[in-house]
Amino acid sequence: MGLFNRRKKRGTDETMQYGAKLITVAKPQNPVSEQFRTVKTNIDFTSVDHQIKALAFTSANISEGKSTVTVNTAVTMAQAGKKVLLIDADLHRPTLHQTFDIPNRVGLTTILTSHSNEVDMADIVKEDIIPNLSVMPAGPIPPNPAQLLGSNRMRAFLNMVKEHYDLVVLDLAPILEVSDTQILAGEMDGVVLVVRQGITQKAGVERALEMLKLTKTHVLGYVMNDVRTGPDGYGYGYGYGYGYGYGYGQQKDGESK
Ligand SMILES: Nc1ncnc2c1ncn2[C@@H]1O[C@H](COP(=O)(O)OP(=O)(O)OP(=O)(O)O)[C@@H](O)[C@H]1O
Ligand SMILES: [Mg+2]
Repeated sequence: MGLFNRRKKRGTDETMQYGAKLITVAKPQNPVSEQFRTVKTNIDFTSVDHQIKALAFTSANISEGKSTVTVNTAVTMAQAGKKVLLIDADLHRPTLHQTFDIPNRVGLTTILTSHSNEVDMADIVKEDIIPNLSVMPAGPIPPNPAQLLGSNRMRAFLNMVKEHYDLVVLDLAPILEVSDTQILAGEMDGVVLVVRQGITQKAGVERALEMLKLTKTHVLGYVMNDVRTGPDGYGYGYGYGYGYGYGYGQQKDGESK
């Protein structure tokens, strides 16, 4: 496909420097974009009994594809007609401003650290950066992300934006690495775990799920990122599985663990 570097790297800063690859914007007909539509459909199915207005993505460790999966799923939701606000809530390794080439002088942290009368949302949210998709970067990195993301102010802010958008999508930091994710995950209507094929350890997934359970997080399922689809397949892909568990069994024949 040529869009992604085929070599799997652990702990790369590539998306922090250059942004995540927006394949769903650049190549909406590409099979990977089609796989994101499948991810979207599966998330939609989970909303039947339980409305999902605030959705977040996390993973066990760094560089497992959260930001790439988050932005492409948010774009796919917007392309399907939902009014989406995408928020960079990874205050440790933010990427959204690079992905959409927007300034990061103000962002989520500005809202969480200012008095409401000082903040003009229009300066912070880039509305309809692509049709139906609005984007809020992380803003200046604070010394106390856990405190900010776990604050009442964050809760009030989430409730406010949920009123204005059909869906609010958050990119979170990896749950095993920082404490703020566990707190925030519990505030979401649903959380999807990103699992990177060949990189994420089974024990890491188990631990991540245990931690999410402690905050009574509604885990919608997982996205299996970077799935090899065989010698004449597309090289990379996304799978989606349900349940409060993990489904390596979703792999197709010939894929390696
Ligand atoms: N399916 C894929 N195929 C190939 N490369 C991928 C795939 N998904 C992500 N990558 C690459 O892996 C790296 C990490 O991806 P990404 O930044 O999306 O992960 P992350 O979990 O958000 O990382 P961080 O912990 O830094 O927030 C990037 O270089 C990205 O381009
Ligand atoms: Mg990221």
